[in-house]
Parts: sequence; structure tokens; C-alpha cells
Amino acid sequence: MIRSVVIGCGSYTPAKAMKNAEFEEFLETSDEWIVQRTGIEQRHIAAEGETTADLAEHAARAALENAGIGVDGIDLIILATSTPDNTFPATAVEVQHRLGMKHGAAFDTQAVCSGFVFAMTTADQYIRSGQAKRIFVIGAETFSRILDWKDRTTCVLFGDGAGAVILEAKEGAGTSEDQGILTCQIRSDGSHKDKLYVDGGPSSTQTTGFLRMEGKEVFRHAVGMITDVIIAAYGATGLNSDDLDWFVPHQANKRIIDASAKKLRIAPEKVVITVQKHGNTSAASIPLALDVALKDGRVKRGDVVMLEAMGGGFTWGSVLLRW
Ligand code: UT7
Repeated sequence: MIRSVVIGCGSYTPAKAMKNAEFEEFLETSDEWIVQRTGIEQRHIAAEGETTADLAEHAARAALENAGIGVDGIDLIILATSTPDNTFPATAVEVQHRLGMKHGAAFDTQAVCSGFVFAMTTADQYIRSGQAKRIFVIGAETFSRILDWKDRTTCVLFGDGAGAVILEAKEGAGTSEDQGILTCQIRSDGSHKDKLYVDGGPSSTQTTGFLRMEGKEVFRHAVGMITDVIIAAYGATGLNSDDLDWFVPHQANKRIIDASAKKLRIAPEKVVITVQKHGNTSAASIPLALDVALKDGRVKRGDVVMLEAMGGGFTWGSVLLRW
């Protein structure tokens, strides 16, 4: 059986780190409220003129260096973003161009905060069906561009960044002992579309629009949806929380992460949390967190890693892999 194995990982955050205290200058909010309700202490903000493709390119180059390969062997780029440089073409083709790739194909995928999980799931299908041997999966966002900076209920939550992994086809035995992606579980339910959305778009308003969220409603659904797809991953593989070495969740709110881990009986020391440094970077949050845990030596070859995300749509999903 063909498995999709991670052979490289990289990430990038813009130079400017914006601390919570900076919001106190123009909003009725406080560092204390933000930390207590979300765990966020700072977020990175792209410089003027710095785009999603810029962030993605940095992360992609870091992943190539980490894998010790060039772009020659890459067949496909799948880039998850809700903040593309342009309505079209896909930001992925801009990244393909900048990396000097004339071969293969590149496209964007859009599942908001679940984007990286949906992109990994798509990539895994291409690899297991034999259509691609090596795939770039990138999550890259500049959410600072779609925030209403006068709305304290949303603008303090999000940040900019990018992360990338390279997946490679490797032969496995078809058991949960295999290296690589063991199962992917994705879901969506459009009946929740008005709880987290952007109030603009080319076809509706001909504007980009701003992010709108009923935070409490999203929070109310998050833990149930996250645990649902993780339990489905356990069902598909025969593994359980005790088998996990690392839990690398989407980084939206530390309270959501803690509650999910508690419900699933995942030990706190196995949970990778970077929300304090990055805020919610939507599709970029999982590969950013993965890269932090890889570079600081936590995630090692052979480790069992659970990724999960939940976001606008609603969309939600999990990827269970052996590193
Ligand atoms: O990536 C996936 C999508 N996003 C999420 O997963 C986010 C999900 N939601 C959340 O993380 C939380 O619901 C929030 C962090 C957005 C809000 O936390 P909460 O504990 O649900 O607070 P709340 O919305 O119930 O607001 C409590 C109070 C309200 O005041 P009143 O009505 O009690 O007087 C808000 O107006 O806090 C107020 N508030 C703030 N106060 C200071 C809301 N935002 C702020 C703020 N600073 N930035």
C-alpha cells in the first residue's frame, strides 16, 4: 500500500510581532482579557506589500531545505488559503512560478481554518492513487487583511503566517505501524455558514469584505466537531489517545484545545500549543505548530501525530500520521 510520508517541513512568520497591549491603544480591550479568553499573547502581521504568496514561498523554501531536495521531483503544489493574493489565479501558481517550477500542477484549496487538513487529505488521495510522487502542501494566510480593526471581538484573534510540508509516496504494509498518513477524516456542514464568514466576495459584493464571527457559537460547536473526527480516525486505524505521541491541533483558542484534549483523554504534555505566539493563522496554524515542535526536537521520526482543525463553513477534519 502506498503511504504519504512527510519528508520536509518549514514555516515562516512576518517580522512584526504585535503584542496584545498594542490593541489597548485603539480598542476597549486588555492583554488580560485576550490571554484569559484565548491564550493569545501576540500575533505576526505581514508588512505593507507582503502577501500570502511571499509567506508561502518562504515556508516552501524552508521545507525544501529541511527535506534536502530541490523542486525537480515535486509533482504538485496544493496551497490552502482563504486570503489569496488575487481572486485568481491561484496563489499556488504564483508560488510554483517563484520556485522556478515549469512542470507539474498547482492549485489552491479553501476550507478556511480546516484548509491544511483538507489539503493534506487531497494530497494523500493523489499519492495513494499513484498520480503524484511528491507534493507540497502549504497553508498560508494574511488574515490581517480581512480583519475589521474596529471589531474587538475578532481582530485580536487572528494573525499571519505560513507553513509547508512535503509529502512523498512510500511503500507501506497497510497497517497502523506504517510511516506516513494513516487516515484522513473531513467533514463540512454549510448550515453553519453565517456563524463565521467574510461579508464580501467577487460574485456578491465585488469587494473583499471583512471577517465576521459569532465567536460563542463557533466555540459551542468546536469541541464536539473536533472530537468527532478524532474518534473517527481512531475507528479507522485501531489507535487511540494512548498511542499518540503528539496532538497538533488548529490553534484558535487555548480553551478549545484544552477542552478537546481533556475530552479525548490526551495528556497535556502531548499537546503542541503555539497559539500564544501566532494567534489564529487559519490554514497556516497546523504546519506552523508542527514546524515549531519539529525544530525544538519534540516530533521525531516514528512518532504518531494527530492533526485536527475546525473552522468556517463549518468545516472540520483530522489527519492521523506516523512521522
Ligand atoms: O478557527 C476557528 C474559528 N474560531 C474559533 O474557534 C473561535 C471560537 N470562539 C472563541 O474563541 C471565543 O468565543 C472568543 C475568544 C471569540 C470569545 O470568548 P468568549 O469567552 O466566548 O467571550 P464572549 O464572546 O462571551 O464575550 C464575553 C464578553 C462580552 O461582553 P459582555 O457582553 O459580557 O458585556 C464581549 O463583548 O467579552 C467582551 N469582549 C471583549 N472584551 C474585551 C469580546 N471581545 C473582547 C475583547 N476585549 N477583545
